[in-house]
Amino acid sequence: MFKTYLRLLGFARPLGRYIVPYFIFAALHAVFNTFNYAMIIPILNAMFESDFVFTPIYTFPEISLNAEGFNLVLCYIYTWVFGEEFDHVRFLMMLGGVTVAMNFLSNTFRYAAAMTVEKLRINSLQRMRDEMFKRVVDMNVGYFSEQRKGDIMSKITQDVMVVQYCITNTLQVAFRDPFLIIGYLTLMIGISWQLSLFAVIFLPIVGVVIGSIVKRLRHPAKRGQERMGDMVSVLDETLSGMKIVKGYNASGFITEKFKSLNSHFSRLMLSMARRQQLASPMSEFLGITAVAVILVFGGSLVVDGALQGAGFIAFIAAFSQITRPLRSFIDQFANINQGVAAGERIFTIIDARSEVKDKADAREFEGIKHNIELKNVHFSYDGSREVINDISIEIRKGETVALVGASGGGKSTLSELIPRFYDVTAGEVLFDGVDVKEYKQESLRRKMSIVAQETVLFNDTIEGNILMGRPDATHEEVVAASKIANAHSFIMESPEGYDTNIGDRGTKLSGGQRQRISIARAVLKNPEILILDEATSALDTESEKLVQDALTKLLKGRTSIVIAHRLSTIYNADRIYVIDQGRIAEQGTHHELLAKGGIYAHLIEMQSFS
Ligand SMILES: Nc1ncnc2c1ncn2[C@@H]1O[C@H](COP(=O)(O)OP(=O)(O)O)[C@@H](O)[C@H]1O
Ligand SMILES: [Mg+2]
Repeated sequence: MFKTYLRLLGFARPLGRYIVPYFIFAALHAVFNTFNYAMIIPILNAMFESDFVFTPIYTFPEISLNAEGFNLVLCYIYTWVFGEEFDHVRFLMMLGGVTVAMNFLSNTFRYAAAMTVEKLRINSLQRMRDEMFKRVVDMNVGYFSEQRKGDIMSKITQDVMVVQYCITNTLQVAFRDPFLIIGYLTLMIGISWQLSLFAVIFLPIVGVVIGSIVKRLRHPAKRGQERMGDMVSVLDETLSGMKIVKGYNASGFITEKFKSLNSHFSRLMLSMARRQQLASPMSEFLGITAVAVILVFGGSLVVDGALQGAGFIAFIAAFSQITRPLRSFIDQFANINQGVAAGERIFTIIDARSEVKDKADAREFEGIKHNIELKNVHFSYDGSREVINDISIEIRKGETVALVGASGGGKSTLSELIPRFYDVTAGEVLFDGVDVKEYKQESLRRKMSIVAQETVLFNDTIEGNILMGRPDATHEEVVAASKIANAHSFIMESPEGYDTNIGDRGTKLSGGQRQRISIARAVLKNPEILILDEATSALDTESEKLVQDALTKLLKGRTSIVIAHRLSTIYNADRIYVIDQGRIAEQGTHHELLAKGGIYAHLIEMQSFS
């Protein structure tokens, strides 16, 4: 646990630049804060004790941490400001001035300390998020299952938040609060050690009771959040499935479900409110009880003449202050567990390493001379069910090879083995006879473009999205690529042309427009190898023509694997493979397969009817 905490703290580099000033500021804050309370004694003395003895002092007295020492310093300041002649009002004025000055210093250092911690917090979190994002981006594609996505999101957003308060608060607990406690205790002991001893026995009792109340609040708070989450999901389901709810006359059922969750939540809230509202009265009551006991004990010391009245009042003031840092001390040590747990979740991302790794002596991929070959390839996502079952395919340089077949057959999976998004379970993926694992992944992907059914666009300008294909391209090259992709004219019609922002995930564009932008991106990249995965399946006939035309231009002169939904895309393929349940069911040209009268012929037949 401590190791995780230190590692989290380590994100604030260099740590010394924050910790050292924080330490100094926190100490100074405690010193001046304590003096602030100590000022009560001379003020009360000056007001109520007519026999206050003033002696002029011209040189700064030796510092001693007790009432006399303190008085000597005040006499020195008075002499320095007003001279030898003593006057009660002047003395009070001076005390007021000193108090204000002390308080000013105390709060200045408090601010400086707080800002140091804030800087530490903000800087280290920035680093943490950057590092997490980089790790995530570097992971192999297989790492990102649907369930993982939510997990990663919550780690980068929520867990980082939890960690940040854990870091800041524990630093306060570790440095600032102990200084304050020491300061107040010093003052109390300086006033009366007997009374301090008596008080110190009380403190832990009060602290433990308050701490346990606060702790018991936390558990229902968490359950309350969970119940609220359940209610929100019922609400969400109901709203998005309103037709089903109505159609099945399920309003009653769903209302009952909501009602029961709601009443459970309310009961939880009530029990939480009870404890919450009890916390302050309880702790105040306990505090006052402690003070009352001390009043009786201290009062008897005053009556006996063992303690000055003014000192006693200052003692009570300091004692009432000491419970605050003590309370946060107890609170924060309960919090640290939560922060460390979140920190551990963060480190699962930071320590994750891609399963698809480059070899140490991996070589640059310079393109293909002869062919790409899949040899007896097997693949499974989960290690048990084979999605690709012994497939062998050859794609010669410059050829277009088409994969067709029912959905779920494994076509997309097969195409993703070529850029090595996944490693095969058995068999080989070869480029000119060299295994794909021998190449650097980056060099491999530099020579490939993938245009998929779901076009992925980012919240950026149109030009920014196309430039992703080749970031160093000029504007003219972007325009040229867009023209080839039949995208130029609609881009020019957009409000700001190439600088138009396309909105979150390209929501402001139609499916065909999105697809043509992603084709322009591929054209700009000018890849040697091209993978088209159902690039036209989501389109209406009108935009399909434009996209199809763009794709034909894109395919020219490249080595391509085309997965086609519309069979019109694949008439011209050099070879067609029919993939069925992870195996090759048929292969040949369009005419050969049609003549054969098998699955392919059946697919063609179905399509001409639709
Ligand atoms: N990321 C994934 N994790 C686990 N299983 C997957 C994943 N992607 C696809 N599959 C499964 O692999 C099989 C083949 O899918 P896919 O390659 O997408 O087929 P096709 O592209 O021919 O429709 C399907 O049964 C599908 O459910
Ligand atoms: Mg697919």
